[in-house]
Amino acid sequence: MKNGAKRDAKAAARAAARAQAVPSHPLLAGPRGQASGARDGVAAGRAPVDPADLAVVEPVRPAIARSAKARAKAKARRGARRMPVEKVIRESGRWLDIIARKTRLTASQKQRIIKETVRSFSTYFNTGFLAYRKSVAEAEQYASVEWTGEGTLIEDIAGRQYIDCLGGFGIYSAGIRHPRIVEAVKNQLERMPMSSQELLDPLRGALAELLGEIAPGNLQKCFFINNGTDAIEGAMKLARLHTEKSGFISTIRGFHGKSYGSLSLMGKAEYRIAFEPLLQDVYFVEFGDADEVEWQLRKARDVGLEIAAVVAEPVQGEAGAIVPPDDYWPRLRAICDEYDVLLIADEVQTGMGRTGKMFGVDHWNVVPDIMCLGKALGGGVMPLSAFVSTPEIWKVLEKNPFLHSSTFGGNPLACAAGIAAIHVTLAEDLPGQAAEKGEYFLHGLREIQARYGDVVTDVRGKGLLIGIEFANTEFGYSVAAGLFRRGVLLAGTLINAKTLRIEPALFIPKEQIDEVLNRLDDTLKSLT
Ligand SMILES: Cc1ncc(COP(=O)(O)O)c(C=O)c1O
Repeated sequence: MKNGAKRDAKAAARAAARAQAVPSHPLLAGPRGQASGARDGVAAGRAPVDPADLAVVEPVRPAIARSAKARAKAKARRGARRMPVEKVIRESGRWLDIIARKTRLTASQKQRIIKETVRSFSTYFNTGFLAYRKSVAEAEQYASVEWTGEGTLIEDIAGRQYIDCLGGFGIYSAGIRHPRIVEAVKNQLERMPMSSQELLDPLRGALAELLGEIAPGNLQKCFFINNGTDAIEGAMKLARLHTEKSGFISTIRGFHGKSYGSLSLMGKAEYRIAFEPLLQDVYFVEFGDADEVEWQLRKARDVGLEIAAVVAEPVQGEAGAIVPPDDYWPRLRAICDEYDVLLIADEVQTGMGRTGKMFGVDHWNVVPDIMCLGKALGGGVMPLSAFVSTPEIWKVLEKNPFLHSSTFGGNPLACAAGIAAIHVTLAEDLPGQAAEKGEYFLHGLREIQARYGDVVTDVRGKGLLIGIEFANTEFGYSVAAGLFRRGVLLAGTLINAKTLRIEPALFIPKEQIDEVLNRLDDTLKSLT
């Protein structure tokens, strides 16, 4: 992109301003005049949340005396439909035509979809998200609306192409729309999309067997659900049932999901504070420090606290691709055995080849007691997650199998995708490719770090879970924005851009890695 470099100076200034407020986008104004841009919360590139800001006290308003007429009017308004039913039918039909359309959209149709998408996000979804998206804040004339993708490339509705180094935060290990995975889901769709919940669904059994066969050591029995957080919830319940203990040890900056149990394991204040009190028996230790885990367990034993399990990611993902020392996981295994607590590996992001082995723990030949999977397990086509454990631990779920159940978990479409994802991951040696491409990428990034050492403070990772750390959040955001304008997608953590994460498809061609490195170099040149 020729003009990218020139625009970066302006972009850097904009990033600094964004630390205070996200500029409103012309397309953000909704039909009912909603203001655009989030005022609260923190967008990528802005300073981290100050916990004190999360407890803003609303000013006390004088009570408004309402007349009976005003009350009746308000009541009528609440009950009124904004869109008549006929219009809802017409609108949904129009969208069905758009979904079904095989021919190219006209320019005005594209413009209409862009406008409508921004408006509906703002009016019916969550205006706040628009402020976080570079696709709105950095897309210049009009927002970048996702339209199609294939392999490592994403195209927006206006035809702008992006090399996808974000991978949907780790779901696209097999790339976007891998033909074998799409075909499996389409074929299953034609036969039986969801389970009857009474007849035995064969794909659930088949996927369970395949997963049991590729899982480390004696991990063999599993349960399927939809999100990473569901897998963690199941693992926590299983650990509590099996050990009859309630406590957990988790890691600072660890990320395990945002439902109540998994959020209780969250090692980041900014996501927890608004929902406290969470589960009380959770103790946090520094990631990568096995001594601290041992110390916590010794303390717990001495004072009589009951610990069910230690939970950690093999490589911390959302924290910014933090790789632990090589003796960390083997020591965790030995310590958990010594203190008779379970070891839970959260492989939601690291599993399915991402770090250069099928599972992150395989780097250290460690077999956890429970392993959680998600993201890439559904092949980037269907939501699918799982927790896997040993037959012995699983017994507590077998007496009453309805103790833990899910309507959509392990549905036939998701299982078809999971079977295809395992097939593709092994047949195309995606873990091996991740190891090789990851080395190549890291080598190129280290060369860049050597040239821009004053702003690029660290480059790290394992396989294709890579982090680049910058001097500060604002600079990191400017780099992400500069790359966005040069047609490369990558991201910081959810709310902080000091470290940018690179998680492309595991087969990303070396020429594309070179292209990303060139565009990164160009971006850094323009910003320094
Ligand atoms: C390691 C890890 N565990 C759990 C989760 C939660 O997964 P989900 O967002 O699918 O609930 C994530 C999400 O990023 C993750 O990275």
